[in-house]
Amino acid sequence: MKIWLDGGLQDTETARVSVFDHGLTVGDGIFETVKAVDGRPFALTRHLDRLTRSARGLGLPDPDLDEVRRACAAVVEANPMSLGRLRITYTGGHGPLGSDRGAHGTTLVVALGETGRRPDSTAVITVPWTRNERGALTGLKTTSYAENVVALARARERGATEALFGNTVGRLCEGTGSNVFVVLDGEIHTPPVASGCLAGITRALAVEWTGARETDLPLDVLDRADEVFLTSTLRDVQAVHRVDDRELPGAPGPVTAKAMRVFEERSGDDLDP
Ligand SMILES: Cc1ncc(COP(=O)(O)O)c(C=O)c1O
Repeated sequence: MKIWLDGGLQDTETARVSVFDHGLTVGDGIFETVKAVDGRPFALTRHLDRLTRSARGLGLPDPDLDEVRRACAAVVEANPMSLGRLRITYTGGHGPLGSDRGAHGTTLVVALGETGRRPDSTAVITVPWTRNERGALTGLKTTSYAENVVALARARERGATEALFGNTVGRLCEGTGSNVFVVLDGEIHTPPVASGCLAGITRALAVEWTGARETDLPLDVLDRADEVFLTSTLRDVQAVHRVDDRELPGAPGPVTAKAMRVFEERSGDDLDP
């Protein structure tokens, strides 16, 4: 396997970043996960736009998007596979042991991992921990993801693949690595970005392509929604058949099934929507 580091392709086995990299020591970094289908990245322009937004939010210098594009192209070409998770990581680079940043420049890594197609439906849990809709990192895709690690581990313990968070005022927010949608009286709703969720790229496309509304929703809407689904780069649109102890038999329901179809068609038509 080859990855991109320090401006070129390197062997995964021997590529090294500093043990003092600020991404490692304090989580001072940002990332993107891009779906690569038969070596072609999907929605790369939107991912690169968000990478820049996350860098600015964190106070990192703008990433060199020409280099990131070259890196993505080189990495997918060097590692052929049918479905890949292309991971762009950009950190504050070699830095002091505390939270101050160093002046050695940033680190860019682009790596690719093979992945399988997700099942059409899955189980989720809710967790007692909150998303902070008013934090310094809200809405940024940073490498400070340990809260998601903890919540996802809890989900796995309960036989689920995703954990859903409410925010500090009890409103529905998002999952550890996905956005959430609910169907109420035949209409699709998803929490607004003001809930503290990431502005997911799949979420934005699903809103555009299905006419879903952005609605401030209580967390307990999950107890009564007719259908629930998730969106993310690697899930696309994925139905939910259980939320905690509540079964949603027959998932994907009709509205979700249609959203899945529309997403598949539209994303097949245009690789960089
Ligand atoms: C916290 C969080 N919310 C939502 C998403 C979904 O975003 P996207 O559709 O851009 O993958 C992700 C990304 O994986 C995420 O990490």
